Amino acid sequence: MNDDAPHPKLTAEGRLPGDPTKDELVERMIRVDHAGEYGAVRIYAGQRAVLRRSAGVHAIDEMAEKEREHLAEFGRLVGERRVRPTALIPLWHVAGFALGTVTAMMGTRAAMACTVAIEEVIEEHYADQAAKLGDDEAELRETIEAYRADEIAHREEALAHEAERAPGYKLLSGAIKTGSRLAIWLSTRI
Ligand SMILES: [Fe+2]
Ligand SMILES: [Fe+2]
Repeated sequence: MNDDAPHPKLTAEGRLPGDPTKDELVERMIRVDHAGEYGAVRIYAGQRAVLRRSAGVHAIDEMAEKEREHLAEFGRLVGERRVRPTALIPLWHVAGFALGTVTAMMGTRAAMACTVAIEEVIEEHYADQAAKLGDDEAELRETIEAYRADEIAHREEALAHEAERAPGYKLLSGAIKTGSRLAIWLSTRI
């Protein structure tokens, strides 16, 4: 955790002309995080459609439950702050589920490798956001930091389920990370 990291007093403090305003910045954060948690819920739904009784199903269900909590909170924030959700929700609905089913069809270890790859990207993404939020957004920052801790725990859980022993781990992990970064980029903007 980066609880001790220095935080700016004000969100978007020191912004330059042309940089997003504080409201724009926070709106983008909520939009992309809502999209990401939505995608996470869909990935686990896809994995569970394939993996019914295998070892690891219990862990997947527990992780999925957390993602539903994360999604519910960002959904609440979308309403409260009147954020326009990403227009790409229908895409993440399909793509998330597809990624979940495909990785699960490759086996439980590949399903876990999917979690490791995504959580590594999301953990960085949340750290990056938390570092930009000032004391004027302390509550949102605490939420993001708490979720970051959950995502790190998911990564560890997936590693404990032998994610790294998935066939083609490096290739799979690299492809999923690239896809996740692209999804973040798109969901921030569209
Ligand atoms: Fe999450
Ligand atoms: Fe997670």
